[in-house]
Amino acid sequence: MRVLSVASECVPLVKTGGLADVAGALPAALAGQGVEMRTILPGYPAVLAAQAAEPLRQIPELFGGPARILRGTLGKTVLYLLDAPHLYARDGTIYLGPDGKDWPDNPQRFAALDRAAALIAAEGIEGWRPQILHLHDWQAGLSPVYLRQLGATDVKTLLTIHNIAFQGLAPAHLLGALQLPAHLFNPQGFEYWGKISALKAGIVFADKVSTVSPTYAEELLTPAFGMGLEGVLADRAGDFTGILNGIDLEAWKPPYGQPAGKAPLRRALRKEFGLPEADGPLCVVISRLTGQKGLDLLLEALPTLLDCGGQLAVLGSGDSALESAFRAAAERYPGVGLRLGYDEALAHRMIAGGDAILVPSRFEPCGLTQLYGLRFGTLPVVSLTGGLADTVINASAAGLAAGVATGLQFHPVDASALSRALRRLCELWRQPRVWSRMANAAMAQPVGWDASAAAYAELFRTMTR
Ligand code: ADP
Ligand code: GLC
Repeated sequence: MRVLSVASECVPLVKTGGLADVAGALPAALAGQGVEMRTILPGYPAVLAAQAAEPLRQIPELFGGPARILRGTLGKTVLYLLDAPHLYARDGTIYLGPDGKDWPDNPQRFAALDRAAALIAAEGIEGWRPQILHLHDWQAGLSPVYLRQLGATDVKTLLTIHNIAFQGLAPAHLLGALQLPAHLFNPQGFEYWGKISALKAGIVFADKVSTVSPTYAEELLTPAFGMGLEGVLADRAGDFTGILNGIDLEAWKPPYGQPAGKAPLRRALRKEFGLPEADGPLCVVISRLTGQKGLDLLLEALPTLLDCGGQLAVLGSGDSALESAFRAAAERYPGVGLRLGYDEALAHRMIAGGDAILVPSRFEPCGLTQLYGLRFGTLPVVSLTGGLADTVINASAAGLAAGVATGLQFHPVDASALSRALRRLCELWRQPRVWSRMANAAMAQPVGWDASAAAYAELFRTMTR
């Protein structure tokens, strides 16, 4: 089975969020399932600098300039890099310019990726032609439209929605510039309230649609979570499914076999964050600081956590209002430590040295940090939503009695429910036998890719049957 994954980010080359982890991990996970997955990725400067890439194909004109498809590798995975300097050779992040706003030509930048993927699907490349395109989020959403244009409808498409909040909207006047067929610009096609929607194009025209957890798949069909696309998804309900993300068990491997092995790492982490020694749970947060993640609720619930003896160490970056609020909290409370920025190595030290990881998201398609927490016996405290609902076993009376509880879930997603969960966390901390049983159960919970890679492989097989 030959699959081309179309992704705007991919670990370890370029990452802004969990999508990169998934795109990076799936090819290796699928190899054991008889699926050869190759990946096409934009040739951002950092990616080209890290790869000794060999040119395979010229594209004389691609949305405003010439482009090339280069061949790279990532471990055993073949990479196709779209080298298009007019679209990607610039400073700033992959989605945002130096002013912190979306690059104005983002529609062209990712339409180019989709066009190149469709070209590979139509013509093949170096004697290899995919049977399926696996499309990640809106950045890959226009691919099925270009596939039709290029007459390669024998190639099937799966769109995976990692986050419906990002829909890839573009003004209607770009129809021509993006080489999109005007006859599909209508409510049954990729038109969304007068704009072009790349995500809607994917939902409507892909053969199958998936998202990254079973619960988020159900939530997406409701107005509270569908963000305007619930009806479009409902029309595809028969082709829509949720497959849980896994994590890379080698990249996230605890340096201890028992939760008790945390002691020196916890001490070091407190030191690193300037926190005093204390007899309460050291809670960590590793997150984009945005409304999605519910961290404003944590700011409200913070006094409860500190009153019951807990501490908090936060690593994150994002909205400036949230950054200032956390800065103020860290200045005010000795029990709160903060690092603003992005730091992969520190994230590992926090998961290893922390006692609990807090993920109070308003919505969470899957979430990866609670999975890291489970693997390290760092108990997740999560809102009951999306992938958080599917991956954590709540410390209810029944869960504790059966010895299967691995964390705490709270509902509704508000500051008082979170406060109650944090108070409960502190109570469990004061019962070392119960805590240690939970931490051991967490470390034993399977969070790798095996089951989900098998589910993707099975879906790919039904698509080509
Ligand atoms: P999302 O993709 O919505 O941001 P996920 O939980 O799926 O949420 O994935 C987030 C990924 O990004 C995780 O691998 C997490 O460790 C990482 N991450 C987020 N913020 C930071 C940060 N400031 N420093 C290091 N890693 C971070
Ligand atoms: C998104 C979601 C997150 C998910 C990740 C990878 O960014 O916000 O919940 O884990 O994609 O699928």
